[in-house]
Amino acid sequence: MNLKNFVSSIDYDIVLAEYDMQGSIAHTDMLAKCRIITRAEASKITSALKKMIDEFKKGKLKLKGEDIHTAVELELTKRIGTTAGKMHTARSRNDQVVLAERMYIKDQIKNINDNIDESISAIKKLAKKHPSCVMPGFTHLQNAQPVLFSHWILSYAWMLKRDKERFSDLYKRTDVMPLGAAAFAGTEFPIDRKYTAKLLGFRKISDNSVDTVSDRDYIAEFLADCAILAMHISRFAEELVIWSSQQFGFIKFSSDFTTGSSIMPQKRNPDFAEILRAKTGRIYGNLMAILTIMKGIPLSYNRDMQEDKEPMFDSVETVKISLAAFSEMFSAMKVNEDKMSEACGKGHILSTDVADYLVKKGIPFRHAHGIVSKLSDYLISSGKRFEDLTKKEWKRFSDKFDASVKKIFDYKSAAEKKDCDGGTSTRSVKKQLSVL
Ligand code: ARG
Repeated sequence: MNLKNFVSSIDYDIVLAEYDMQGSIAHTDMLAKCRIITRAEASKITSALKKMIDEFKKGKLKLKGEDIHTAVELELTKRIGTTAGKMHTARSRNDQVVLAERMYIKDQIKNINDNIDESISAIKKLAKKHPSCVMPGFTHLQNAQPVLFSHWILSYAWMLKRDKERFSDLYKRTDVMPLGAAAFAGTEFPIDRKYTAKLLGFRKISDNSVDTVSDRDYIAEFLADCAILAMHISRFAEELVIWSSQQFGFIKFSSDFTTGSSIMPQKRNPDFAEILRAKTGRIYGNLMAILTIMKGIPLSYNRDMQEDKEPMFDSVETVKISLAAFSEMFSAMKVNEDKMSEACGKGHILSTDVADYLVKKGIPFRHAHGIVSKLSDYLISSGKRFEDLTKKEWKRFSDKFDASVKKIFDYKSAAEKKDCDGGTSTRSVKKQLSVL
């Protein structure tokens, strides 16, 4: 077995190539500005690096070495000779790798937040398309109370909005420039770290060189944010799988997002939603990987930390494709308003409204709850609905019931009545749509 690749990372940290080279250009500029190397040396280095970036973008740059940092320097040495080695003054791969990773995550946070925006837009669009559709809301997957379909699905938009906020918050902690920590102790050269930070667009520089090279919180946090986001997408996917089943029939996936069965000709399986649900597994796994890698290593840098990259890259790609798949699948999906309204007839979902009716007649809620609970048992055992009850039957449970109780039995108005801020009324939905 060839073990050369065991400690090598070039096969995957190539993703960081551009950031590494940009970092080297800025570091070299700073070295010249601080007169640690000459201007002539610096421009020799930076113009060669710029050319390499161009070639890399065109897919023409071949890099070989143990890791991306070594590979870039080796290639540069091939091109300009030993001057290349000057760019590594006052620097170590330990702070260099942190720089590239931080630059990468900053970019990915922006990309992912854009993708989240697209998903939120898809949800808002569907909510607007079905403004008065009523469905049974669930607790314990049992029909519970009527709710506007738009209100129900917008709850996922709020989750995604929080995901965006979490990423943006992490951005602040990632936006810290590590170069200058060198191996872990800093450097004796008179460098200007703030200048490097400015060149690379960082908000601030790190404060403790040991922490700078030892810290991978920005990756753990990034992967945790990805995990929470994936959990949200997975819950929605699960809900859509349930809704698309024959038992529910609330939605129909476009055929582009279902596949058939190799044996049962009638099947239209919701594979996209299922795969979305399952992708959560690897995203959680990536979080577990970084937490486990980091939990037992002493300060400062240890090679264990090289294993931080694959989980990070994998979560980035998985989250991005999942959000894209979700947005497209969701936008192409058809809603069956009739099925949702039909489902409102099951499970006596206006029981709470009946209890509230008694409360308005002066009965304490706890007592009203007991009355309606008995009433529900009666409905279940007699196979009746509230609407079927005679005056005599109503009175058997409470003499507060009169003819006005009939007004309760409209699902749409039951939903509309819940007009408190954040409730399931059209007014509330409109407000949400305007702020989301
Ligand atoms: N490829 C290494 C990593 O990703 C770079 C740092 C190597 N530093 C060292 N002292 N071996 O962690």
